[in-house]
Formats: sequence, C-alpha cells, structure tokens
Amino acid sequence: MTANARIAVIGAGLMGHGIAQVFALAGHEVTIYDPVMASLASVKARILANLKDLGDDPSAVERVQPCHDLGDAVSEADYVVEAVLEDLPLKQKLFAEIEQKVRPDTILASNTSVIPISKIMEGLKDRSRALGTHWWNPPFLVPLVEVIGTQWTSPHAIEWTIALHKAAGKMPVHVKKDVAGFVGNRLQHALWREAIALVEHGICDAETVDTVIKASFGRRLAVLGPLENADLVGTDLTLAIHRTVLPAIESRPGPSPYLEKLVSDGRLGFKSGEGFRAWSTADQAALRAKVLQHLKKARAQD
Ligand SMILES: NC(=O)c1ccc[n+]([C@@H]2O[C@H](COP(=O)([O-])OP(=O)(O)OC[C@H]3O[C@@H](n4cnc5c(N)ncnc54)[C@H](O)[C@@H]3O)[C@@H](O)[C@H]2O)c1
Repeated sequence: MTANARIAVIGAGLMGHGIAQVFALAGHEVTIYDPVMASLASVKARILANLKDLGDDPSAVERVQPCHDLGDAVSEADYVVEAVLEDLPLKQKLFAEIEQKVRPDTILASNTSVIPISKIMEGLKDRSRALGTHWWNPPFLVPLVEVIGTQWTSPHAIEWTIALHKAAGKMPVHVKKDVAGFVGNRLQHALWREAIALVEHGICDAETVDTVIKASFGRRLAVLGPLENADLVGTDLTLAIHRTVLPAIESRPGPSPYLEKLVSDGRLGFKSGEGFRAWSTADQAALRAKVLQHLKKARAQD
C-alpha cells in the first residue's frame, strides 16, 4: 500500500530535505529528524523555496513535519529513509536505534552513496525489511533511484519500495547484488579514475578532460547508454577497441596519488577555491547555476 504512506526522513541536509520534498509533493505525510537544530529549523523554508523555484505546489510543504525526537519521527512511519553523513558507524548506530522505535512492518532504507547496505544493516534483528535507496542530487530533479537489496531483503520490501518511488515520479531501478558503489557510482567513478589518470600522466589538462567529455559522448549520454552504444556500433567493433584501449587505461585499485596530493595540499576544489582547477566565487556560482538550469530543462522535457 503506497498511497498516502507515512514517510520518515532521517537527516535534513542536502539529500534529506530534497527526498522529503519529493515524498511530500507526491501526497505523503513526511516527518523529518535531524539533531542539528539549524538544519531542522530551516528545512521547511528550504523545501518551500525549492517548490516555488520549480513551479511545484507550495502547499506540499505543509505535509512535512520536522521532529526534534527520533522516536516521534519514526514511530508511526511505514517507511524510514536515512540520509545522514556518509559514516558507517553512525549509520549502524542509528538503524539500531530506529529498529527499536518502529513498527515490525516498517521498511528501512539507507541513502548511502557507496557503502554496501549489508554492512549498514548487518546488526539488525530483522534484516528482511532493510534495503538501500540511492538517490542523486538534487533529489527533486534527478529521476534515478537505485533500490538495492541485500542477501536478506524480502522481495516484498523491494517491490513496495519500487512502487513507492515510481508513484512519486522517480525512476527506480533494482540493483540485485549489494556491491560497493552499486551501479551508478561504480560507473561514474570508473570514468573519474581515468579522467584523473589522464591529468596525472600529463596527457592533457583538467579543463581538456572536461571539454572532451562534455563536447563528445557526454552530449549523447542522456539518450544513449554505453551498452546501447556498443550495440549501435557493433559488439565486434567494441571488442576490437577494447583489445587496444583496455590494456592502456588506468586499472589501479586505489585512489590516484595525484588526488591524494591535491587533498594533502589543501586543494579541495570549491571549498578552498582550487582543486584540479582554480575556482573564483563567481565561477562556482556560474557552474552551479548552469547545472541546475540544465537539470530543470531536462525535467521539463521528461
Ligand atoms: N550529496 C550528494 O550528492 C549525495 C548523493 C547521493 C547520496 N548521498 C548520501 O546521502 C547521505 C547524506 O548526504 P548529504 O549530502 O545530504 O549530507 P549533508 O551533510 O548535507 O546532510 C547530512 C545531515 O545529517 C545530519 N545528521 C548528522 N548526524 C545525524 C544523526 N545522528 N541523525 C540524524 N541526522 C544526522 C546532519 O546534521 C546533516 O543535516 C550520505 O550518506 C551521502 O553519501 C549524497
């Protein structure tokens, strides 16, 4: 039963407030918990500003109820989704607490970016109702949600969660094995590893890497996935290309030393004004606005 479900969102940060917004707009009653007062106090204003900016029904914010107590947020919930910091011990501790405060049939989900769901949920008494739902930022503009089952997750929990997200206008996909990074971040970071290696090995600079992607296959990616593309050009051509290219590209199992050095030098990207490239405050604002504009346009065309 997914109509008018009671949803609890744990964490009112970047992802949590956006996930709460999507479920409230879909007609569900949403409670949201965060121990940081400033985060909780501003959550409705942030959601309202997003709804107005997107031209969505602003009254949806009335279905969002901030809670100062975790128990109040989850005790009546049909579905709990956690979006706190990407910290395994924190998530494990939180789910242990949540499990004591929810009904026996409440479904429990984590929005971790890359941590295997079985690691987060291994300490629970009932692991059959626990799964992963990996959203993308911003949750109200990027359609995909990866729904990840563990070896313990019941088919009912998966089906219910997929139906819930579909009805809320998202595009859920079922990830059948609980691997680090799931599907999206494995693909994304395979590309980032090679992007960094190209700079590290002096093949081109960082700006060139981004230009090459944005002005070539990046243009097609929203409508042509890599496996559709492989079929389009032919699996025989794909095989010939892989025989030459795969031995040449980066296959190191750990992070690049170039990336390690950027971080140890304090070149943290937007946060410090320089990462792979230098970023003035105006550059940062312009890039953020460009991405948002692009995603809004894509949503309008969906
Ligand atoms: N930012 C992204 O693009 C993105 C995309 C997909 C998934 N994720 C994942 O979503 C999760 C949240 O990321 P974010 O970007 O929203 O982080 P964020 O830092 O914006 O928000 C995290 C929130 O969790 C709150 N919090 C801390 N401890 C808590 C606790 N004990 N109980 C409840 N709330 C607590 C913080 O106060 C903060 O408001 C992470 O696991 C992250 O990896 C992030």
